[in-house]
Amino acid sequence: MKIISGALEIREFGLWDADQVAAFLAAEDRTALPPSSPEVVGDVDEWLAERVHQKRLDGQGVNLAIVEQASGEIVGSIGLRDVDWEAGRSEVGYGVRADRRGRGYATEAAGAVGRWALTSGGMRRVQLRARVDNVASLRVAEKAGFQREGTLRMADWDDGEAHDLAVFSMIATDLETAQVAR
Ligand SMILES: CC(C)(COP(=O)(O)OP(=O)(O)OC[C@H]1O[C@@H](n2cnc3c(N)ncnc32)[C@H](O)[C@@H]1OP(=O)(O)O)[C@@H](O)C(=O)NCCC(=O)NCCS
Repeated sequence: MKIISGALEIREFGLWDADQVAAFLAAEDRTALPPSSPEVVGDVDEWLAERVHQKRLDGQGVNLAIVEQASGEIVGSIGLRDVDWEAGRSEVGYGVRADRRGRGYATEAAGAVGRWALTSGGMRRVQLRARVDNVASLRVAEKAGFQREGTLRMADWDDGEAHDLAVFSMIATDLETAQVAR
């Protein structure tokens, strides 16, 4: 799949990304890569050929690269996971490289992927959860047109302590009524 939105191309990872992915690993910067990304450069080709696609092949979601169209560079990643086909529900997650933040890329990508999931992707609901202290991600959710539904108290465990999660969603009618990023 491929989505063109604003300055971005949002598309699947492939073998042609090997040099960029290896450079991220060498720089110990994994924020532009999905959670399943390899630990070492030697595993990059196998990951790009197989593992990065496994979630889609299992019908559980998809891992996508956020690419700056002008430069061709991967600036982040965004994914859908935990697909429930019967309920038509999925969850979106994203990350953007530190040196490309603040340009609206995460907002553009979250809005575009939410819209794609609710139109072409067969979903009725796209959920987004973010720690309540992750102010940048909360802003992204709001700006992309997700509606805040509430707080999941102590739902996350990280660095030896529990954290509250804000929960957002986008449903099909939001595409008409809200300012969903196009
Ligand atoms: C969250 C993240 C994806 C945002 O990416 P981005 O491309 O910079 O996002 P955008 O440029 O679309 O929007 C960021 C917004 O957050 C705001 N923001 C950023 N840091 C902030 C802070 N510390 N306090 C308040 N607002 C902040 C920006 O000003 C901007 O809002 P604005 O347009 O109203 O000014 C990026 O910071 C990231 O990758 N973080 C690490 C991974 C992560 O947290 N992923 C989300 C998990 S739920």
